[in-house]
Amino acid sequence: MKVITSIREIQSIAKQTKAASLSIGFVPTMGFLHEGHLTLLKKARQENDIVILSIFVNPLQFGPTEDFSTYPRDFGRDCALAECEKVDYLFHPSAAEMYPVDPSLKVVVQDRTDVLCGKSRPGHFDGVATVLTKLFNMVIPTRAYFGLKDAQQVAVVEGLISDFNFPIELVPVDIVREEDGLAKSSRNINLLPEERNQATVLYRSLNAARETIEKGEQNPKKIISLIKEIISSETNGQIDYVEILTYPELKPLVNLENTIIIALAVKFTKVRLIDNLILEI
Ligand code: PAF
Repeated sequence: MKVITSIREIQSIAKQTKAASLSIGFVPTMGFLHEGHLTLLKKARQENDIVILSIFVNPLQFGPTEDFSTYPRDFGRDCALAECEKVDYLFHPSAAEMYPVDPSLKVVVQDRTDVLCGKSRPGHFDGVATVLTKLFNMVIPTRAYFGLKDAQQVAVVEGLISDFNFPIELVPVDIVREEDGLAKSSRNINLLPEERNQATVLYRSLNAARETIEKGEQNPKKIISLIKEIISSETNGQIDYVEILTYPELKPLVNLENTIIIALAVKFTKVRLIDNLILEI
């Protein structure tokens, strides 16, 4: 595995790879890799000739009061994990390399952002779409891999690829969970010990919702109330949102039909966790 820090070099590698008619699987991340990322890398390895992993904690997608400075980082450990997954190139640019001057342009996401995390993180998805536009232009991937834990991000990336005509296949990959059901996340490390136990309620509440729907409940409001009751009774965490929307359009619905997402976010002392279920009704 080769670590690349310069944009010029990753562009030249991508160009040569394309010229040799080899496919590129791209896994963009902010590092502190966990099993969710490793699943993306494994899939990218199976499906492509060359695998490029990027690690860049993108300042543009963090709000002024968010956890940019405390976002967990461990580049040495990430390198070892990436080696094990047979990554060919690890692209690890500095902020100065990515943003040498204040950007004169940014990508503004107009749809799919006034709900879920987009509602409480204004500008977050503009930051994500802007950095991904830059990374896609540098890496020119054949396929790009994203975890469905951040299902809203997957929906936004689908819009980005389609609206800007990137010749990239988006590969959404299922959520990877701990044995007790907690969705794997780099941020889980910032849970206090008692909160780590309580956090399992997120997935349990989603499963309770699924069971209620399977038994015939059709009213999204009732299901949202049920989830809120379960979470509030089992954790001190503050519910940020619980929403049920169409997927991937992320529009409100009156009755449960077609593909829906049940998504939630809960704030704990030092970390805010998200989780979701996507269901075919
Ligand atoms: O999901 C992430 O880790 C980030 O939002 C991404 C896609 C790497 C963009 O910075």
